[in-house]
Amino acid sequence: MTALPFSVPDADLTRLNTFGLPAHAGRLVRVTTAEQLRALAAETCWAATPRLVLGGGSNLIFTGDFAGTVLKVEIGGRRLVGEDEEGWIVEAGAGENWHDFVRWTLAQGWPGLENLSLIPGTVGAAPIQNIGAYGLEMAERFESLDAMELATGAARVFTAADCAFGYRDSVFKRNPGRWLVTAVRFRLPKRWAPVTRYADVARELEAQGIAQPTALQVSDAVIAIRRRKLPDPAVIGNAGSFFKNPVVDVATHARLAAAHPGMPAYPQADGSVKLAAGWLIEQAGWKGRDLGPVGCFERQALVLVNRGGATGADVRRIAAAIQAEVLARFGVGIEPEPVFV
Ligand code: EPU
Repeated sequence: MTALPFSVPDADLTRLNTFGLPAHAGRLVRVTTAEQLRALAAETCWAATPRLVLGGGSNLIFTGDFAGTVLKVEIGGRRLVGEDEEGWIVEAGAGENWHDFVRWTLAQGWPGLENLSLIPGTVGAAPIQNIGAYGLEMAERFESLDAMELATGAARVFTAADCAFGYRDSVFKRNPGRWLVTAVRFRLPKRWAPVTRYADVARELEAQGIAQPTALQVSDAVIAIRRRKLPDPAVIGNAGSFFKNPVVDVATHARLAAAHPGMPAYPQADGSVKLAAGWLIEQAGWKGRDLGPVGCFERQALVLVNRGGATGADVRRIAAAIQAEVLARFGVGIEPEPVFV
């Protein structure tokens, strides 16, 4: 491998993943410009090198070392790139911190991303799993993005349709390591209305006596809710929601609802029903319980936390135990949300 000035051999990744799992990379490259990427892609051995793209490392589970090249995306910059009657088009470099970017847009007077406040990670990672929270998915504010195909070094613009967004899903999540996102553009609406249908948000605003919230007030409410329910990765290692909420057919939902009248359920546009994995896990008795050094968080059962010294194998073990118990109890399979490496 070529020695590039921004590259570190045999790099420790423990502090580069929010779960704090130990792992080493054959080489770590900090990418701050698209030009660096082109230089990398021109390396003779590049095509044969296994590659992993890393943003904030908040949705990754390392189960061992990664022999190839880890690309840590640190491309910065944020600016207004367009404006029409409908809205503002705002662009950010993939390495920008997501939450700082959201708060910056609000400070500029451009609403639209407030429900996604305090989600850990980077701007470039947001489209990979189509981050969502409190009644809003990133896809609803997405305009387009710039990416590079890593094998060839070719630049490409992706529209929303190209990204094929789904619930915590996109073309990028289905083809890991194929593209590296360098910049993302969002369309922020001029005719803005607050999204407050999510029960937690409505309750929080009501408790504060706010009937017609500004975008900043919605952001503050979301921050308050998240601080109460979700562990801060800077304090206790975690990867956010560990499981996706399972989507079941109407018959399965009817069977479960009859047996469990209090069960939360969210009907989907296509007729299916989304269930709350956190509820299923809590009912299965896992909330607040540990298996080895990994725990099921006491305030939100959907989150697994590193109690100290956990490895990827420990995470796998508790995840499998929880999945098995939820399946045995409810006949519903739940799938991890983070990417396993
Ligand atoms: N619930 C329980 N016990 C728990 C957790 C939840 O009974 O331990 C119940 C709640 O009472 C509620 C329902 O489950 O009735 C849903 O809970 P909550 O509103 O906390 O949301 P969630 O479905 O558990 C999802 C996202 C979160 C996002 C929140 C808020 C997924 C996988 N998770 O969690 O996203 O912040 O909604 O919108 O969709 C993430 O993806 O990393 C993440 C944190």
